[in-house]
Amino acid sequence: MRIGLIDERSTSEARVGLTPDGVKRLKEKGFECILQAGAGMGAYYEDAAYIQAGAEVVPTAEAVVERADILLRLRMPTRSEIELYPPHKILVGILQAWRHQEEVLILAEKKWTIFALEKIPRISRAQSMDVLSSMAALGGYKAVLLAAAYFGRVLPMMTTAAGTLTPARVLVIGAGVAGLQAIATARRLGAQVEAYDIRPAAKEQVESLGAKFLPLTLEEGAEGAGGYARELTAEEQARQREALAAYVARADIVITTAAVPERPAPRLITAEMRRKMKPGSVIVDLAAESGGNCEESRPGEIQVLEGVTLIAPLNLPATLPIHASQMLSRNFSEFLALFSAKDTPPALQLQDELLKATCLIFQGESTLQPA
Ligand code: NAI
Repeated sequence: MRIGLIDERSTSEARVGLTPDGVKRLKEKGFECILQAGAGMGAYYEDAAYIQAGAEVVPTAEAVVERADILLRLRMPTRSEIELYPPHKILVGILQAWRHQEEVLILAEKKWTIFALEKIPRISRAQSMDVLSSMAALGGYKAVLLAAAYFGRVLPMMTTAAGTLTPARVLVIGAGVAGLQAIATARRLGAQVEAYDIRPAAKEQVESLGAKFLPLTLEEGAEGAGGYARELTAEEQARQREALAAYVARADIVITTAAVPERPAPRLITAEMRRKMKPGSVIVDLAAESGGNCEESRPGEIQVLEGVTLIAPLNLPATLPIHASQMLSRNFSEFLALFSAKDTPPALQLQDELLKATCLIFQGESTLQPA
């Protein structure tokens, strides 16, 4: 079985799915690796390091796709790329397939098999393959650094000969993996941190990091399948915004991370709520990729709205490409090791529950159970 990697830097993607170390681990398990020249350069891994680890380096993406059995991608390939793909291959990646139905259909017509790693179950056996947790942890950390860089004040309390500077008040909305990492980072920088999540289980985790959990009335049964949050009704969302408004108004920095799997991000901060914030405050909307938690977010842009800086970053983990690639490489190589190195696509079987859980299309046929 040969695994292929292409250079995804043309889509502002600095990360790479396998580092030379990942290639070595897969070689030891009997896999071959082929990559396009420069594929690792966004994360500073040179072709020579891959060759030394046992990979083959070829000049073009077409040569990789032609010769690989498994194509490893950090994002769903574009329609024009897919149209040129040969039939009967395997795609493994972070694909957000629910937003790319058209691409999935064309791949299905070409009898491809597709594994979307964002669907990996949150069970202990799969923790080492959990790409979402890896990237969310980096995103949460970087969101706080970004906010600090645009904030006109310091985060910790500072007692100086020129007077005492008060600590920043940081509010984190959504205390999943990204939110908890944001809380830990803001705490390490000396801020006073408050946090909120609709899952009651988050309270204990927030408090264990030294932050205050907001005493809002928790929505009934907001915990959905698989430990994730469910989508709130319009009425519940309105009540939630009302309850959050006063806390948003007094925060210096707001980091929003709220998400519901395979749904647009919930709208938590309206223009009216932002208007009540102090000039000089900063919002980082980590949910920008799935539509944003703030009504006014423009994905990928930084706006200053009546003195409040609203940052809606896209693909924040890619701004830490070395560690992001190191984590992804471990996640992907653990997942790929579930395949038998001898099973080329026609002989492929979904012999493992994790392969079954992540498989969207198997040799052209949908594997999704009807709802
Ligand atoms: P996520 O990225 O899907 O969502 C982020 C956070 O937003 C979640 O905590 C969610 O409860 C919250 N949220 C959704 N709607 C909200 C709203 N309207 N207002 C406020 N908050 C809202 O979540 P993530 O980080 O992927 O974690 C999901 C769950 O999976 C958590 O329970 C987490 O602890 C668990 N998990 C378990 C792992 C395991 O291996 N056992 C690994 C990673 C996460």
